[in-house]
Amino acid sequence: MRDTIRIALTKGRLEKKTLARMKAAGYDISELESPSRKLIFRLPDTNIEVVLAKAADVITYVEHGVCDLGVVGKDTIMEKGGSFYEMVDLGFGKCRFALATKKGKTVYGNYRTPVIATKYPEVTRAFFSRKNMDVETIKIEGSVELAPLLELADAIVDIVETGSTLKENGLEVIEDVAPISARVIVNLASAKMNKTAIQRIISDLERGGEEQ
Ligand code: PRP
Repeated sequence: MRDTIRIALTKGRLEKKTLARMKAAGYDISELESPSRKLIFRLPDTNIEVVLAKAADVITYVEHGVCDLGVVGKDTIMEKGGSFYEMVDLGFGKCRFALATKKGKTVYGNYRTPVIATKYPEVTRAFFSRKNMDVETIKIEGSVELAPLLELADAIVDIVETGSTLKENGLEVIEDVAPISARVIVNLASAKMNKTAIQRIISDLERGGEEQ
């Protein structure tokens, strides 16, 4: 058995915000603050290891138990799913999934199956199935806003944070799909075996930091 508690952080924006919370709680994260390509860090004077991974991989590592807990966006949790406990909402990394299209365009009532472009086909299918609506989903890897502009799709389901990408491309939100923020997920077995250590880390992450 491992004698460390491993926490997987989603690289990028959530990583920075999670590290700020850890720093505020008194962890020495100096090695993580200096630029490097290193992926696993042992925090000095603790039995904690920090692993940096892509969002979907945070879930994979936690599900398989090679990491005890992880910090990942609700967007990835909704799209990928899996077996783990979703313990707390950290309240940062806030944005939302929304259905959007070109200003003035309608998506409903066009007498044909709407075509929706998205990076998140599962989220899109679940959203329209709750409405009992048939849609055709086209998977796009990034800059999804292009799809309605190029007439590939009637609308998109995508992440909206400030709304400027939509605005600058003449698109608008038709409907909100779901709120998003950073969540702590925990491996099912670790939640029992390492309950105290994990609880401690979670309360440290919840404390401190006014940043959003
Ligand atoms: C995300 C999202 C939108 C944009 C929304 O894209 O897909 O395009 O951010 O942010 P805003 O509402 O503040 O403008 P990201 O930057 O992650 O890149 P991507 O389009 O390549 O996925």
